[in-house]
Amino acid sequence: MLSRDLKDRLRAYETPFYLYDMDLLRRTLTRVTGLAREHGFVVHYAIKANFDPRILYEIKESGLGIDCASGNEVRCALEAGFDPRKIVYAGVGKRDKEIRYALEQGIFAINCESVQELHVVDAIAAELGKVQDVGLRINPDIDPRTNSCIDTGQADSKFGISYEEVVSRIDEIKALRNVRVAGVHLHIGSQIRDMQVFEYLCVKANAIVARLTSLGLYFDFVDVGGGLGVNYDIPEREPVPAFESVFDIVAKHLDVGGRPVHFEFGRAIVAQCGELITSVLYNKTTATGRKYIIVDASMTELIRPALYGAYHDIENLTSSATGHDRYTIAGTACESTDVFDEGITLPVTRRGDLLTIKSAGAYGMSMASRYNLHDLPRAVYSDDIN
Ligand code: LLP
Repeated sequence: MLSRDLKDRLRAYETPFYLYDMDLLRRTLTRVTGLAREHGFVVHYAIKANFDPRILYEIKESGLGIDCASGNEVRCALEAGFDPRKIVYAGVGKRDKEIRYALEQGIFAINCESVQELHVVDAIAAELGKVQDVGLRINPDIDPRTNSCIDTGQADSKFGISYEEVVSRIDEIKALRNVRVAGVHLHIGSQIRDMQVFEYLCVKANAIVARLTSLGLYFDFVDVGGGLGVNYDIPEREPVPAFESVFDIVAKHLDVGGRPVHFEFGRAIVAQCGELITSVLYNKTTATGRKYIIVDASMTELIRPALYGAYHDIENLTSSATGHDRYTIAGTACESTDVFDEGITLPVTRRGDLLTIKSAGAYGMSMASRYNLHDLPRAVYSDDIN
C-alpha cells in the first residue's frame, strides 16, 4: 500500500515481484504490540503467512514470538534470531524428526493435535531425557463464518483434539511423564471478519478451561489462536487491522482464571503491507466477448484466487488511456483457474501497464510454487526505493 507517487520507480524492477511497505509493517507491529502490552496479552506471529527474512527481522525487533507449523519453520525462526522460548509449534502431522528437532531446540511449547501425538512427543522427550511443555489443541466446534476452505475449528475438521476425547482420556493424558500440559490451544480459522465469532470462542474456551481445571489438569496459558481478518475489498480503508476489536472482546469475555492469554496472528500482521506488482503482457477478446488481460504473474506467485476463490483488489498503476473497460485478469500458468479476477472495471489497460494485486503480504510468497518451472517471485522493499 505504498504511496502511488513511487509508482514510476517501480519500472526499475523486473516483474512480477512482491512489493513490501515496510513502514506499514512497522506501524502494524507498533499497534499490535502496544495494544497487547495494555491488555497483558502475548502475541506470536504465524510465520506461515510470510517468512521473508526482512519481514521476520522487523517482527523479531518488535518483540513478538513465533507460531510454526513445521520443523523447517522452527528452523527458519531460529535462523532469524527468535528466542526458542518464544516459539510454539502446531500442526496435525508433525513427523518424528520434526518433533525431535523442536525438542532439541528447547522451544516454548508443542501444540499437540491428537492423543496419539501426545504419546509420540512423550516417547521422544523420554529418549532425550526431557520433559516437554505442550499445549492441547482442542477443537471447540465453532463456525468461524469465513471461507469454508480456511475454517479449522468445526467438529469434523482434521485440526485439534475433540473436547469430548480430551475429557474422556484425561487420566491417560495426565499420566504422561515426559510431557507437561502447559496450555490449552484453540484456533478456529482464518480471515474472520465477524467479531462475534471471537465472543463465541471465548464462551467455549471458558467452559473448556473450567472443565479441564475441575478434572485436575493444571496448565499455565490459554492460546486463542489467530484468525483476525483484513479488509481485502478496500484495503486503503483499513491498512492496520482491527486488533483493538479482538483484544477488547477477549479481554471482556475470556475468563480463564488470570492465566496468560496468547494470540497467533499471521494475516493481520503482514497482509496489507504486501502487493504483487505485475505487468500486462497481452489483451485479447474471446468469441464470447470476454476481454482478457494476461499478466506476467500467475497462481505460482499468488494462489489464493485460484485455490479459494479469494478476492484481491486490483489497480492499474500506470494507465494513461482515457476511459474504462471490463476485464478478466488472468495469469500465465497452464491452468484454467489461474484467474485473478473476472469482469472488473479498470482504466483502459494495455501491454506494458503495471498492475498491483493488493493485500498480498500474507499467504502470497509463502505459498508460491515453481509450477511450469516459473521462477519464485522476488521481493522489493519500500526501504530500498528512493
Ligand atoms: N495459528 C494456527 C494454528 C494456524 O493454523 C494459523 C493459520 C494461524 C495461527 C494464523 O492464522 P491467521 O491469523 O493468519 O488467520 N492460506 C490461507 C490461510 C491458512 C491459514 C492456516 N493457519 C489463506 O491464504 O487464506
